[in-house]
Amino acid sequence: MRSTTATAPGKVILFGEHAVVYGRPAIAVPVTNVKATATLTDAPAGAGCSIEAPDINAHVRLAANPFDPLALAVRLAIQESEISSEPDWHLAVTSDIPIAGGLGSGAAVSAALVKAVLAHSARSRSRQPDLETVNRIVFAVEKLHHANPSGIDNTVVVYQQPVWYLRGQTPEQFEIGKPFQLVIADSGVASSTAAVVSDVRQAWRRDTSRYDQIFDGIGAIAEEARQTISAGRADSLGELMQENQRLLRLLDVSSAELERLIAVAEESGAAGAKLSGAGRGGNVIAVAASENVVEVREALLAAGAAGVLVAQVDSYP
Ligand code: PMV
Repeated sequence: MRSTTATAPGKVILFGEHAVVYGRPAIAVPVTNVKATATLTDAPAGAGCSIEAPDINAHVRLAANPFDPLALAVRLAIQESEISSEPDWHLAVTSDIPIAGGLGSGAAVSAALVKAVLAHSARSRSRQPDLETVNRIVFAVEKLHHANPSGIDNTVVVYQQPVWYLRGQTPEQFEIGKPFQLVIADSGVASSTAAVVSDVRQAWRRDTSRYDQIFDGIGAIAEEARQTISAGRADSLGELMQENQRLLRLLDVSSAELERLIAVAEESGAAGAKLSGAGRGGNVIAVAASENVVEVREALLAAGAAGVLVAQVDSYP
């Protein structure tokens, strides 16, 4: 029995969430401390194709669950592999990326599944899956989770590189002048990206010019952050995070709990902090000089964060 394993990392958005849905630039980076892992094993003839995800207690048969996101990822990857009948496969996917926490768990699970299917079918045809194809499929699955995704989540977890992202354009990788550290604190509050994105959309419809101005402001911060990061001046990112958070508050996507964790991070030595992802729950990210990272991490844990990761932002080979 042949077996193939593939993984995909988590991600955080550094700057530009929400505004990115409206065509402004955003920056996101992979978080390799956590990942989704998919293992595909050949099953006995006639067994059909099944997918198991014990973390979410899901057991899906491909033929019986056409609208399930796990099944859609696998089905689209099978179509791409030009396999005409349902293969006899068992797929198991696990993940240590917190669900609904803004770390891209859904996109990572889809990416790991798609990569496993394409790599498994490529062996006999001596061809490696290309990441553009993986990205296209994972984006199609993301649309099931929320109707109007910008595409940033799938792009980062598939390419596993920091990206400068503008909707509708080929994602650009950009230089990290000097690696820096991020402290990522999980508020433990689950948040629905679809619900928050839809609330922002309604508010934008009611007061388009005000919201467009806020999005412009966020886009300008992302531009400045890119230059700052490329120049190796990550110590100046704190202020940009504070400014981005001020604008996110105006979009009404922060919460008392996120604000509390942001204040704890800044009071314990972080240069700046903000929410990351859709908001209302999920994660807070903070930049801190390396000598302050441990203190910031401990303060966030003491303040009740459900989990704290320290991630190095760098370009990966
Ligand atoms: O909550 P997350 O990590 O899935 O991030 C959502 C980011 C948004 O900009 C709010 C939506 C999007 O599609 O880009």
